[in-house]
Amino acid sequence: MRLLLLAAVVSAAAAASAAPATSRRMPKVPATFSAEQVEEGRRLFADTCAVCHGPNLQGALGPSLIVPAFRAAYSDKPMRALCSRIISTMPVGQAGTLSEAQVLKLTALISASNGLPVGEAPVISANELSARKFPGAGKW
Ligand code: HEC
Repeated sequence: MRLLLLAAVVSAAAAASAAPATSRRMPKVPATFSAEQVEEGRRLFADTCAVCHGPNLQGALGPSLIVPAFRAAYSDKPMRALCSRIISTMPVGQAGTLSEAQVLKLTALISASNGLPVGEAPVISANELSARKFPGAGKW
């Protein structure tokens, strides 16, 4: 029993250290994507993107997707811009191999990993992201 408890504590600590920066203050933008999309995006990212961007999006061969410079590049832009960037250029050397649904999941993961709120309704098409904007510079 005590061993079980210890295992639970250790795995909770591991999950916490692997978690993205969720302690950052939640910006006032509407919740976007579902938690399920974020989780599926996490699996996809591990398989297809982590080799270059690091397992926690922190950057490796490719740039970090969770630093202020990244957020600055997308501040005030429609969320669609990030989606389009992925669909038309990533993974490097294999652009165009991901489906729209997959890219939406990856966009969900990147968005959540930068502290943006996730809701309950999934985003079904990239078109929906044209009307949604990332927060302004310095606000996320
Ligand atoms: C072979 C290495 C490689 C793989 C695999 C890869 N990337 Fe990249 N990625 C890069 C490099 C290098 C850049 C910067 C140069 C460029 O934009 O082409 C980049 C840039 C990006 C950017 C733009 C960052 C910015 O600041 O605007 C995003 C977003 C991105 N990658 C997401 C992804 C996603 C999502 C995947 C998985 C589907 C992925 N990448 C797979 C190497 C890679």
